[in-house]
Amino acid sequence: METLLLDSNTWLLVLTGAGVSAESGVPTFRGMNGLWEDQPVTEVASPRGFAKDPMRVWRFYSQRRAGAADVSPNPGHEALVAWERHLGDRFLLATQNVDGLHRRAGSQRVVEMHGNLFTSRCSNPDCTRPPFPDTTVYASGTVPGCKECGALLRPHIVWFGEQLDPDDLTRIESFAVKAMRSGGRLVFLAAGTSGAVYPAAGMVDNVRAAGGETWLVNLDASENASSFEHFVQGKSGEVLPKLGRLV
Ligand code: APR
Repeated sequence: METLLLDSNTWLLVLTGAGVSAESGVPTFRGMNGLWEDQPVTEVASPRGFAKDPMRVWRFYSQRRAGAADVSPNPGHEALVAWERHLGDRFLLATQNVDGLHRRAGSQRVVEMHGNLFTSRCSNPDCTRPPFPDTTVYASGTVPGCKECGALLRPHIVWFGEQLDPDDLTRIESFAVKAMRSGGRLVFLAAGTSGAVYPAAGMVDNVRAAGGETWLVNLDASENASSFEHFVQGKSGEVLPKLGRLV
């Protein structure tokens, strides 16, 4: 198997997706065939889905909260923690996962591009209450309300059809710019992601255009696999612990 050199000249930007949590027992979007209770997840996890049936949306997220609370990080998450300890500020982890497993494993420099399952916020854009930690598994048929303005609470998740937080994208871009300006070697590694959801799926092209090196660790050849220079096929929990050569 190829190895990825992580030395004092390396700046590593990692992108993870649902596949990295699969070995912890969290079902992937693809694994569910994109369906929940026979409904397309893209419909449920959307502003339209929430406007139509907020109880159903909360039932979906309460189930996911209950499921994610019962699982633990796997060796793939742990390898990324070890790499971060080695590289320090020359490491950044952007994740599409909302399950919080990277932070639970010990990752610190994390951008949760799609939000966090254990955070809620008020659905009223004019409410001043900031997003807050919320591990509650709400009873089926209920929708929590905001104690400041009375509007409905919603999960702090970037739904289908919503924009990513521009501050998150800036943090990722700034990392790559800093790496290039420092004259270092920028490496982008994507793991466990289908390469189908933008803008995350376009990161590989941006890094290549900037002169960076690109790696993919995935179970199948993902939709954008041919855009990567290195592809290591396999389970992230098995590949990542062996891939990094820390010097
Ligand atoms: N190790 C590595 N890769 C794996 C593993 C594993 N153990 N198990 C599955 N995979 C791969 C699959 O082959 C697939 O390519 O992980 C990918 C998972 O794809 P998706 O389920 O589409 O997940 P993701 O790419 O994270 O989805 C992107 O879409 O569901 C929405 O917003 C949600 O963040 C999510 C986004």
